[in-house]
Amino acid sequence: MKKGILPKIFTIPLFILAFSPIAFSTDSLQHGQNIIDGQKLASSKGTFELGFFSRGLSTNRFVGIWFRVAPDVVVWVANRDSPLNNTTGALTVGNNGSFALYDASEKIIWQPTVIKNGYNTTILQLQDSGNLILKDLSSNTVIWQSFDYPINTLLPGMKLGKNLRTGFETYLSSWKSGDDPSTGNYSYKMDTEGAPEIIIWDRDQLRYRSGMWNGLYFSGQPSMVTYTDMFNFLFVRDQSEVSYSFEAKPNAPFSRLVLNESGVKQRLVWNQPHQTWNVFLSAPKDVCDYYATCGPFSVCQPEDMTTCSCLRGFEPAASTEWYMRNTSGGCQRRTPLGCSADSDGFYVIKEVKLPYSHKATVDANISVEDCKRRCLMNCSCLAYAPFNIKEWNGCVMWNTELIDIKYVKDGQDLYMKISKSELGSSNKKMLAITVILISSAFTVILICFVGYLIWRKKRDSKQETTERSLANDSFKDADLPVFDIQTILQATDNFSKTNEVGQGGFGIVYKGKLPYGQEIAVKRLTGNSFQGLNEFMNEVTVVAKLQHRNLVGLLGCCIHNNERMLIYEFLTNKSLDLFIFDSEKRATLDWRTRLDIIKGIARGLLYLHHDSRFNIIHRDLKAANILLDDEMNPKISDFGTARLFERDQAVIRTEIVVGTRGYMSPEYITEGKFSVKSDVYSFGVILLEIISGKRNNGNQNLVTYAWKLWEEQSILKLIDEVVESTGFATELTRCLHVGLLCVQKCPDNRPSMSSVFMMLSSDNLVLPAPNKSLIWRSIGEFTADHHFYGSESISVDPLTVIEGR
Ligand SMILES: *[C@@H]1O[C@H](CO)[C@@H](O)[C@H](O)[C@H]1NC(C)=O
Ligand SMILES: *[C@@H]1O[C@H](CO)[C@@H](O)[C@H](O)[C@H]1NC(C)=O
Ligand SMILES: *[C@@H]1O[C@H](CO)[C@@H](O)[C@H](O)[C@H]1NC(C)=O
Ligand SMILES: *[C@@H]1O[C@H](CO)[C@@H](O)[C@H](O)[C@H]1NC(C)=O
Ligand SMILES: *[C@@H]1O[C@H](CO)[C@@H](O)[C@H](O)[C@H]1NC(C)=O
Ligand SMILES: *[C@@H]1O[C@H](CO)[C@@H](O)[C@H](O)[C@H]1NC(C)=O
Ligand SMILES: *[C@@H]1O[C@H](CO)[C@@H](O)[C@H](O)[C@H]1NC(C)=O
Ligand SMILES: *[C@@H]1O[C@H](CO)[C@@H](O)[C@H](O)[C@H]1NC(C)=O
Ligand SMILES: *[C@@H]1O[C@H](CO)[C@@H](O)[C@H](O)[C@H]1NC(C)=O
Repeated sequence: MKKGILPKIFTIPLFILAFSPIAFSTDSLQHGQNIIDGQKLASSKGTFELGFFSRGLSTNRFVGIWFRVAPDVVVWVANRDSPLNNTTGALTVGNNGSFALYDASEKIIWQPTVIKNGYNTTILQLQDSGNLILKDLSSNTVIWQSFDYPINTLLPGMKLGKNLRTGFETYLSSWKSGDDPSTGNYSYKMDTEGAPEIIIWDRDQLRYRSGMWNGLYFSGQPSMVTYTDMFNFLFVRDQSEVSYSFEAKPNAPFSRLVLNESGVKQRLVWNQPHQTWNVFLSAPKDVCDYYATCGPFSVCQPEDMTTCSCLRGFEPAASTEWYMRNTSGGCQRRTPLGCSADSDGFYVIKEVKLPYSHKATVDANISVEDCKRRCLMNCSCLAYAPFNIKEWNGCVMWNTELIDIKYVKDGQDLYMKISKSELGSSNKKMLAITVILISSAFTVILICFVGYLIWRKKRDSKQETTERSLANDSFKDADLPVFDIQTILQATDNFSKTNEVGQGGFGIVYKGKLPYGQEIAVKRLTGNSFQGLNEFMNEVTVVAKLQHRNLVGLLGCCIHNNERMLIYEFLTNKSLDLFIFDSEKRATLDWRTRLDIIKGIARGLLYLHHDSRFNIIHRDLKAANILLDDEMNPKISDFGTARLFERDQAVIRTEIVVGTRGYMSPEYITEGKFSVKSDVYSFGVILLEIISGKRNNGNQNLVTYAWKLWEEQSILKLIDEVVESTGFATELTRCLHVGLLCVQKCPDNRPSMSSVFMMLSSDNLVLPAPNKSLIWRSIGEFTADHHFYGSESISVDPLTVIEGR
């Protein structure tokens, strides 16, 4: 703030001016007029007032504008960084047309930064919009307005953005604290590069992005569209400016957008009956709102405890605990792009906040089809999205790493380029149809295919018109890879016996190899309790969306006549039980490896349970269902299969008890009741098995044995003798303690997977004592009139599960 631009303007002493009989019920000051501390201006309809204020215990005085109905809500401050220290200030319009804030010694405390000279018929007026303007009456031009110099509040009609000709920016910056309006650490600023978006900065650190403006809303806040009855949101992007503003519709309540002292953007409306402000949108709100919570090429899901998961076709780059908000890891591409339309395709990630678009390439004038073509042709293009979803045109292409993607409800779709081999064999469909026509079973499959199309249509009806143009797009099918039977027969050598690799709870598993070399595991589902085709497709899509590094990836499905098949990635090290119960192999597993496996399983299970969108209960968790990749990372398999058999997951009682003896929780065996806590029980058993190297089967009940040792305070005896436990006694005890908490008899007493995960990850948490009396051991409590049926892993006589002591 330059001082002394305005020469001394007072011809009479200030105090005389101060007591001159000026009527301050007005909204304006003419040249030579002033207001002193204690006086105020009021806008014509009385919405806003301008005057002097101070905050908290401080004696500092500021000139500001506030809502008359809520005087504590100051929307603008003149001298935020140069307070008066007593009540002797005066705001004066000088004789030469400018205005300034003076102290008692007639020193300028504050004056507007940009002011044109040579006006002598100016008026300073507080408008009913909250805008303070300095206007030249003779030319009727606005010389200066407070709306150009926002503090922390955006009012309807104010613009936030940048003048591209002059480089002048309007942005919000937070107060230092609730009692101190001086400039704080946070700012809320338009990023005009790439696809424009608004960013909250914490000094020079990117804190939160709104997501690009897509014609209807900021990509990260689809719920904005639900407030269009109150507001018009305006976004301008042309040669001269990029700006955002909002207008209140007639009769809308007072509203404001504020960047508060904690760096949180809030949208508030005045609730007249209650005389309070209601916050209706705020950001950042959850962990995924903070910039780059997850690393590159991953997507953040707030309700999910594991938070980050890799995009399709990507895998974690580092095996460190990257999911714990460590942004250095991220994900890396599994199959390199081939840089041609033959080898690459697009995968649609549904409902996301689009990645950081500062470096994205934007062409607002081409069609979405052209955009796709361009992206496919250009090697450096990694993903694209329509620039304007309202008119469904324009093109945003990302050429650098995709970062800060978040799942948001009703969000936009992102089209991501990946190798076709990661998509499944979608372009073999035409061939498949030819085969079908020759085949005698063609009707059935035709019905399936039509059903599939109908299902897709239904699902996509939201964007029906806009997406119709993309409907004959072969890549569009990619988010639900449907393999044709010929591919599967070829891959598995007609389901030959030699390719049989195992038998899971729901069918036989075959190993196979796709033409382009990828190894797969094909599970032929058995049983006749299938749901309808649409539901099946729905469920497969759900399961296919579950992507986590501790889950076996589902690549797609195949439907042939009455048969249904699931196609999974193939894992070389097969299953955990082949390691931990094998006399030789188990010696290769030291305590660290075992702990990593336990944590990995916990993480995968946590993802299944707490993924807000699906909440999967596994129901058949066992060592044989934990597969190991070549780095011994555990991956849970067979998840979601139970859903494929039963429509309504809300049902917590079932006549069909699916499970494996030794892993089933007591309440599940006797009453058919299952919940996430049944999975926790199974997890506890697996944990005990991993540490002990012993199976929990009917003859030697590991759980009972563990309890006995716990009571005798010699739990360490449970540890597999091949494990070197010296130095790890505390850790091992702690881990076993967690295991025992999981196998408590009463489901309510068992911890949730998120607690389990925290207990395993932190050494400081105090663990509750496991309650012995609540373990399952009373034979009298069985009601043995339940039916158990299914394949070998299902049928169990409940009485053999437990051991009396
Ligand atoms: C009005 O202000 C301008 C610049 O701030 C100055 O050049 C001019 O002399 C002033 N006029 C009077 C009468 O104070
Ligand atoms: C206010 O500040 C001036 C110097 O800027 C100082 O001389 C004066 O004593 C201060 N008054 C009070 C009440 O702190
Ligand atoms: C008020 O503060 C000004 C400096 O800002 C100082 O010159 C003046 O003497 C002070 N008046 C009183 C009464 O403290
Ligand atoms: C304002 O300035 C113009 C010349 O720029 C002059 O003619 C006019 O008399 C002035 N008016 C007042 C009220 O000083
Ligand atoms: C602003 O940042 C500085 C430097 O990190 C810090 O010391 C200060 O506490 C921050 N202020 C607020 C209000 O957060
Ligand atoms: C800022 O806004 C957030 C979200 O509404 C709120 O939780 C927080 O208390 C606010 N901070 C202050 C200092 O008002
Ligand atoms: C994140 O992980 C890397 C290793 O991938 C490690 O070097 C770094 O220290 C970690 N950073 C934090 C903040 O944990
Ligand atoms: C884009 O199209 C609009 C009208 O459709 C036109 O006014 C504008 O000049 C075009 N911009 C470019 C860069 O071609
Ligand atoms: C590919 O895209 C990049 C980034 O937009 C651009 O610089 C490059 O010229 C494009 N290459 C081709 C061949 O169009």
